Amino acid sequence: MKALVADRNLASRLLNLARGGKTTFGPAGRVTDVPKPTISADEILVKVTAVALNPTDFKHLDIISPPGSILGCDFAGEVVEVGANASKSWKVGDRAAGVVHGGLYPDRGSFAEYLRTDWDLAWHVPSEVSDADATTFGVSATTAVLTLNLHLGLPWPGEAPPSPASSGEQIFIYGGSTSAGLFHIQIAKAAGYTVVTTASPHSHELVKSYGADAVFDYRSPSVAEDIVKEHPGISKAVDCYSEGKSTDICGEVLRNKGGKVVTLLPSTGPKIPGVTYELVMAYTMMGRPFQWLAPIGPKYEAKPDDRKGLARFYASLPGIVNAGTLRPIPVEVSDGGFEDILAGLNRLREKKVSGKKLVVKF
Ligand SMILES: NC(=O)c1ccc[n+]([C@@H]2O[C@H](COP(=O)([O-])OP(=O)(O)OC[C@H]3O[C@@H](n4cnc5c(N)ncnc54)[C@H](OP(=O)(O)O)[C@@H]3O)[C@@H](O)[C@H]2O)c1
Repeated sequence: MKALVADRNLASRLLNLARGGKTTFGPAGRVTDVPKPTISADEILVKVTAVALNPTDFKHLDIISPPGSILGCDFAGEVVEVGANASKSWKVGDRAAGVVHGGLYPDRGSFAEYLRTDWDLAWHVPSEVSDADATTFGVSATTAVLTLNLHLGLPWPGEAPPSPASSGEQIFIYGGSTSAGLFHIQIAKAAGYTVVTTASPHSHELVKSYGADAVFDYRSPSVAEDIVKEHPGISKAVDCYSEGKSTDICGEVLRNKGGKVVTLLPSTGPKIPGVTYELVMAYTMMGRPFQWLAPIGPKYEAKPDDRKGLARFYASLPGIVNAGTLRPIPVEVSDGGFEDILAGLNRLREKKVSGKKLVVKF
């Protein structure tokens, strides 16, 4: 089958890392023929019809991925083979979508004609939802479940009406117009929270349309002060941008009450006493230990509870989407296959995508 595989050696990836990921050395990804994956009894094989792009894909291509690994995490498609243990949930011809740990394995990644995935880490796409829209419930949506439901303990979407205890509680989502932010806003609203967020003025209507109650421009030098003035009681925050001053601003917003900030990238700035900072990585939801920049980079243990969380979310997602509790985020769809993926990753690398997900159809 055809697949987009990483093609940078360790030296060029280390150079990219040293340059803060801002420039790219060595050849880019390569579209090539690789063996069609074979599945285990616990997996399904999906013929991929659409993929969504994430910043993690170009970061893998530039820095993390060993040569030969298939890139890409988010997918939608049609089930073409079902492992023996998967047949209670899947049959050939079903529509499936989900997220895989792309960019690390030679036989696991969504930028390919076929992908293998654990049967319980994919979800049944309802007939009203297009493949392009279905792809948006990948990295961005599942990260929101990891931060909000697993790390901050918010009620799970669609499982029970918000309790009086959580109704009216406030949460700060930095970067509401990022793909991750738009899902964070929706899940926090579904849990009954009042959502305070940041976005550029051109994104204010967008974040409000996804449920934000109050939105502030992150470029204002007094943004943290302004938020605290109007919302002094916030004790939970997620930093959906996690670059520059974003985590510092989250800490300042929580300074009054103390609490927890969850970040999506490592934070290096000053820490506010009484505020704890936790870094999450969506890959811990996929159930396998992994290492970045092997053999010299950090190793990560599998986290079975995170994996259970992803399976729980995907099991309930068809009902949640049908009920309108969560909706796909805006998409820009193209149908140019692998070439469009590389072009789209360049746009993400250059930070030229705002308030939407780039989706490529095969
Ligand atoms: N740890 C994890 O598991 C995990 C999971 C998902 C994402 N991430 C990381 O989280 C980051 C966001 O990912 P994403 O896919 O959600 O991003 P994205 O959709 O590509 O983000 C685009 C948005 O970034 C916003 N933006 C640009 N500069 C900003 C700033 N200084 N402050 C706040 N927002 C800014 C823009 O908003 P405006 O147009 O409104 O300015 C734009 O809408 C990436 O670095 C990604 O790698 C990590």
